[in-house]
Amino acid sequence: MSLQLGRTSFGNPANKGNVLSKEEAYQLLDSWVLNPRLKLHMQQVGFLMKCWAEKAGLDAAEQWKWEMAGLLHDADWDQWPETHCRKIIEELEQRNIDPEIIRAIASHGHTHFGVEPETLMDKMLYAFDELSGLIHAYSLMRPNAYEGMDIKGVKKRLKEKTFAANVSREDIEDACSRAEINIDELIAFIVSKQSMM
Ligand SMILES: [Fe+2]
Ligand SMILES: [Fe+2]
Repeated sequence: MSLQLGRTSFGNPANKGNVLSKEEAYQLLDSWVLNPRLKLHMQQVGFLMKCWAEKAGLDAAEQWKWEMAGLLHDADWDQWPETHCRKIIEELEQRNIDPEIIRAIASHGHTHFGVEPETLMDKMLYAFDELSGLIHAYSLMRPNAYEGMDIKGVKKRLKEKTFAANVSREDIEDACSRAEINIDELIAFIVSKQSMM
């Protein structure tokens, strides 16, 4: 089975600035994603994206675009894994959504979908995706969850190949280098934001 999308251009440039409302986005999330763990993952990645855009000084409209990409990046994974992430891309294209958002979603797993992360939005979605899940898994095995979690502890889990074994260590490394972010900085950011959720 191949998830390759076979194209690298998405949406219509005329739709720049078009977004779903928060209500519409959550409605899509709730009706497509039945697995609560996956839903939480998507909410976490959405929140991280929003916070990063905020830190980068982007305005509220841009922050929502970032959040929307994170919130919906795995929308079709639960019920239609064989067409991940084609289905959500086509849905957003049909709804005339901003191509930037669609592109970010299409590039969140370049080895699977064949779309390279190019914009900062693409790169940060790629970077947050895997690492956020590993840090969340780590929080679940700690008695105080996120409280007192430090970079050293997360890096130890990263080195343990059997811990959250489905999380690709190579992707995390690759994402950090593409986004030109130090892994320690990324870990600290994720821990501080996810602990707020
Ligand atoms: Fe995915
Ligand atoms: Fe994901």
